[in-house]
Amino acid sequence: PPPSSVKELTNSTSLGSVPPQYAIRNPETTMDIEPIIEEEIPTVDFSLLTEGTPEQRSQVVRHLGKACEDWGFFMVVNHGIPERLREAMLISMKEFFDQTEEEKGEYTGKHVMDPIRYGTSFNLTVDDVRYWRDYLKVFVHPILYSPAKPPSFREISKEYAASTRAMGMELLRGIWESLGLEENDMTKALDLHSCYQVLVGNIYPPCPQPELAIGLPAHSDHGLLTILLQNGVNGLQVKRRGSWVRVEPLPNSFLVNTGDQMEVVSNGRYKSVLHRAEVNSQSTRMSIATVVAPSLDTIVEPASQLVGDEHPMMFRGMRYGEYLECQQATRLKAKSALDPVR
Ligand code: SIN
Ligand code: FE2
Repeated sequence: PPPSSVKELTNSTSLGSVPPQYAIRNPETTMDIEPIIEEEIPTVDFSLLTEGTPEQRSQVVRHLGKACEDWGFFMVVNHGIPERLREAMLISMKEFFDQTEEEKGEYTGKHVMDPIRYGTSFNLTVDDVRYWRDYLKVFVHPILYSPAKPPSFREISKEYAASTRAMGMELLRGIWESLGLEENDMTKALDLHSCYQVLVGNIYPPCPQPELAIGLPAHSDHGLLTILLQNGVNGLQVKRRGSWVRVEPLPNSFLVNTGDQMEVVSNGRYKSVLHRAEVNSQSTRMSIATVVAPSLDTIVEPASQLVGDEHPMMFRGMRYGEYLECQQATRLKAKSALDPVR
């Protein structure tokens, strides 16, 4: 049988080239024809949100709003989440991927709403090329799921999910403030106490011809915020003003981006931005993305305060769970599941 994961493919043989199923055929999706520019992405000092003086807080809230409006991506520093927890989460995720295909195969998902889903590529039935990436997706809130092995996974992911969720909620508080929205209204409207949170571990093994393969193709994220941790190997690219920008996060920082639901809630002011992952020939890259989103039953629609004569309603309301199923079942592409009012 063909290898069931990229990891297995790269483990079992010494590859001199990218197998044809993984090689980019459509020139529109190649990783290297578009110009790549180097630019600094904004940095948000999280400690000023929680412990700053009122002036410092207003300043950082303005900066946060500007980062959302201008980039849709920012780095969070001084977040207070200990390095040992970030390391432990990466190690535990690595231990999951290091199991045999048979062991991991127990979690090979059939359905996009399976709470624990291991796989490779994205959707083999609709994508025309395989991606150089294996993944594990685990729902961690409101119910915490965990694969049985490695044994450390449950405790570590529980702590990691709680810490990143708390950070996400604090960032959301700042973002609502930057939009002139009331925190209580938003918590209620989006049912954030029962927020949907998922952990996605990605592994990108070294690739013999990185220019021919795609780690992850251009896409936007589905939730409100995505919080990304990586193992020190860069590879993320963000679309900015028509060009791709390589992201080099600061040590110990988290990379955060606004997702499709934020674009809807903010009535188009804070856009969810396209991003993709490139691979390299030297080292295994790992990333762990945590998506914080409304509860699955929430009907997400533009905040009424942001809709008016000068700002017509940009999106129709949609149940978040439905959005998710639709987005995950279609070919991974830009905001394919949003329902804009045109
Ligand atoms: C993602 O877009 O979900 C992950 C991208 C990355 O691996 O940096
Ligand atoms: Fe993403």
